[in-house]
Amino acid sequence: KTATNRRNEPIDMNGDHVYRASTTAPVNIAVIKYWGKRDPRLNLPTNSSLSVTLSQSDLRTHTTASCSPSFSPPDTLLLNAQPQPLSDARSQACLTSLRALRSALESTDPSLPPLSSYPLRLSSANNFPTAAGLASSAAGFAALVRAIADLYQLPQSPTELSLIARQGSGSACRSLLGGYVAWDQGTLLDGTDSKARLVAPRSHWPEMRALILVVSAEKKGVSSTTGMQTTVQTSPMFQTRATQVVPRAMREMETAIAGKDFPGFAKITMRESNSFHATCLDTDPPIFYLNDVSRAAIKGVEAVNEKAGRIAAAYTFDAGPNCVVYYLEEDGDVVAGAFKTVLGEKEGWTGEQGKAVKGAEGVLQGKVMET
Ligand code: DP6
Repeated sequence: KTATNRRNEPIDMNGDHVYRASTTAPVNIAVIKYWGKRDPRLNLPTNSSLSVTLSQSDLRTHTTASCSPSFSPPDTLLLNAQPQPLSDARSQACLTSLRALRSALESTDPSLPPLSSYPLRLSSANNFPTAAGLASSAAGFAALVRAIADLYQLPQSPTELSLIARQGSGSACRSLLGGYVAWDQGTLLDGTDSKARLVAPRSHWPEMRALILVVSAEKKGVSSTTGMQTTVQTSPMFQTRATQVVPRAMREMETAIAGKDFPGFAKITMRESNSFHATCLDTDPPIFYLNDVSRAAIKGVEAVNEKAGRIAAAYTFDAGPNCVVYYLEEDGDVVAGAFKTVLGEKEGWTGEQGKAVKGAEGVLQGKVMET
């Protein structure tokens, strides 16, 4: 518990002011995948990507940033109450950029307190089990950047802040915006045009739903960062994917979203996930993210579409075995019905659920997400 002064502002034991801001950032799930860096230091990608940001109420990171003249250095970060290193180059790139923006404000207005010189205390928590094995770095870095930008009262827009979050984790730049978000790869060497762009707000297509099927709670074998670098270096298919397959998919996807064309959206999403995993398989040594249970989820989606006689659902997989199924609210019964045994009766992630697709490589558990 923190004490407060007469103006109800938090103060610490020495009577020094503690400045604080809290925020949340949601997870985003790409339908056109980022895979490959042309500049690993600045996190500049070899292709543009596009994702759907999930609703804040579902999978999100909550972060509180505080600073005070009485805090002793260095800056610290707690994730789900566990101390985390903050000295890595990516975190440092974010903190340095945010401090530079604050410091510029302070030099134009000397009445502002010199927050940029105070040590930071950051505390983050995910509202989903970290053990669910879902990529959390996107929401994590987006929340970190947003919380410090709020603490520093920075005037920069979410798109401008996406340039900073990108340096933490590429996919994080897309979590600064809601709805349907592109990350344009950009062409400049300093990366100042490699940032998030709103393709359409959530309200444009609010019927979109995402069903998350957790296949494995285990940490993935090959991290995205390492995996994509090996792909760039060794996959003969990679060049075609980055220069031809993805640019075309980006154009088609933006058209499908603009026209709210679900079959188009779904076809591109599935083809794109398959292209990405084919490129992983084409890497030397090959990277296997999908397992038998993932493939059973693909079969499940194919069965849904066959039964419906049209494309009602689309699967996509990131750098791990877990499946995300996109569908429209009106098809909730058709899609959720097909995966009913994995959804269970209660909301949540309890272990008894999910007996439908059980294999040596995992048990499916599912949860419906708003987008
Ligand atoms: C397969 O953003 O985690 O999820 O920039 O190295 O932190 P770094 O990689 P990261 O990669 C995400 C890869 C992906 C596709 C995507 O989200 O676009």
